[in-house]
Amino acid sequence: MIMLKLKNLFKKSEHNVDFDNLPQHIGIIMDGNGRWAKKRGLPRTGGHAVGAKTFEKIVEDAGNIGIKIVTVYAFSTENWNRPKEEVDTLMSLLEDYLDNGLERLAGRDVKIHFIGDRSAFSDEFQKKICHMEKATETNSGLLLNVALNYGGRAEILNAVKEICHKVQNGEFSCSDIDEKTISDHLYTAGQPDPDLIIRPSGEYRLSNFLMWQSAYSELWFSNLLWPDFSKENLLEAISDYQKRNRRFGGV
Ligand code: FPP
Repeated sequence: MIMLKLKNLFKKSEHNVDFDNLPQHIGIIMDGNGRWAKKRGLPRTGGHAVGAKTFEKIVEDAGNIGIKIVTVYAFSTENWNRPKEEVDTLMSLLEDYLDNGLERLAGRDVKIHFIGDRSAFSDEFQKKICHMEKATETNSGLLLNVALNYGGRAEILNAVKEICHKVQNGEFSCSDIDEKTISDHLYTAGQPDPDLIIRPSGEYRLSNFLMWQSAYSELWFSNLLWPDFSKENLLEAISDYQKRNRRFGGV
């Protein structure tokens, strides 16, 4: 009943979204925070703070729309190369989410899963990650993957190493390895690949995001900067996606 009401609410949107044909999984590259801040004469870190708020808002909107899985690129394996002050700000925004996100998500039925190499973080930080995952593991509404210290190539490399160990231990042989074996050893094991990847900020690349999983994803780019991204833009991206003819290599 509530879902029906929400659908009707969103149906009023000008974007003509077909709510019976939603992308199951949406990936989002939250780009443009630094430029958003610069345009306003603010430090780059100010852009990340507003970007973090946009992230929470869009996750809520995606859940209300009826999207099943959202994967956000929050911190890449390459982001460590940014100035220390910026890395520190990003870490404290993430820590704030780990500390207070559950309270802000209360009643929202969101299951949170962190993808990426978490061993780079302090024990305390890793405990908070585990706590958030454990606290939301039985939720069945939206599955939110937060990519942290994530790189698509590193993810594939990690999968290859795990598979090699299993071959060495005799769990299976090389000839048993197929595409599903690789998918099953990625951080997103068991999840459908993203149908749609959204990247604002006017950049036209994937930047090492979901390299294996994005093989047949539809891409949606926009000149908007992430802090300005709204529910309307999400609906616009979904509506555009619904006009695409996905052939998966067929005709
Ligand atoms: C890219 O914009 C954005 C990032 C590297 C960080 C994204 C992180 C957040 C939105 C906040 C933290 C997230 C959570 C989950 C609480 P950019 O800095 O590269 O922008 P620019 O290209 O304009 O410089």
